[in-house]
Amino acid sequence: MTTLNTRLATRSLLHPAGETKLSVDAGEQRVAPFVKWAGGKTSLLPHLFPHVPLRLSNYFEPFLGGGALFFGICSRTTSFNAHLSDTNNELVKAYSVIKESPEELIPLLSNFQSEYDSEVDKSAYFYRKREWRPTDPIESAARLIFLNKTCYNGLYRVNSKGEFNVPFGRYKKPRIVNSESIRSASHALAVTKAELRTTSYKDALASCRAGDFVYLDPPYQPPSKTSSFTDYTPDGFSEKDQEELAEEFVKLVDRGCTVLLSNSDTALTRKLYRDFDTKKVTANRPINSVGAGRKGYKELIVLGRLRHNLS
Ligand SMILES: C[S@@+](CC[C@H](N)C(=O)[O-])C[C@H]1O[C@@H](n2cnc3c(N)ncnc32)[C@H](O)[C@@H]1O
Repeated sequence: MTTLNTRLATRSLLHPAGETKLSVDAGEQRVAPFVKWAGGKTSLLPHLFPHVPLRLSNYFEPFLGGGALFFGICSRTTSFNAHLSDTNNELVKAYSVIKESPEELIPLLSNFQSEYDSEVDKSAYFYRKREWRPTDPIESAARLIFLNKTCYNGLYRVNSKGEFNVPFGRYKKPRIVNSESIRSASHALAVTKAELRTTSYKDALASCRAGDFVYLDPPYQPPSKTSSFTDYTPDGFSEKDQEELAEEFVKLVDRGCTVLLSNSDTALTRKLYRDFDTKKVTANRPINSVGAGRKGYKELIVLGRLRHNLS
């Protein structure tokens, strides 16, 4: 749904000083994430777009997840080179398949869709796919996407052996295959010459240079112990990781990169980025371990410019 905020934010990206970049209807998402991801930023896009430079050369997103901002930008322009990474190897490999082999992936997913739709015991079908260990990258990507669309809340969680262990989601009619969405995501990844890597954010940021744009969206700093949702990978993301990330943030700013970060608005994140220009925004978080906390979550957006530089 197009909100006033979306329209205003989009306009500021598309028409600064009368410049029209692309003839995209305000708020339209022609390219969207192909997975639903914990901490996905689709609902935050109107707050993020105004801070994305108009002219991009190199775009770095080292906590990729569903890539809501990357795909959001691609709905408006694809004239940049993308450097996308995440520590989740299965996810990064699925991106590579989307980029390189969409026409092989789509029939496989269509097949899963018809099998699932005609299956009486959908839960059993889900658990069979969860147990399946394909070695072929296209089959692995299809499995990941299938599980993402049919598991509980579209979560990604693994056990100590690295095995996906989210239970069945009980959706009435999940859309397992969306050919249009896969093709547009594939096109976006191809034309931005997306470099896709499974690596830690620190390693990914080592090659950032002055003028590059970096978007950092780490696993949330939990506001309280009970709402912890930092176990995206077996490693999780600790308070110490948040502190180290804040140090990396400063280094990137010093190097002359344009940096944008989003995180939950907590005492720790406010303290870590106190020298920078921050904005508190309220957004719907689609996936959260505490049901009651889904609506109206407080997010902190941090801009890589010093507070005292603001007029
Ligand atoms: C909040 S999610 C990103 C969501 C994404 N912005 C979206 O719109 O869907 C954080 C991501 O960081 C990844 N991650 C966790 N620890 C990491 C690390 N040390 N380096 C790089 N990525 C990491 C997780 O696998 C997860 O996909």
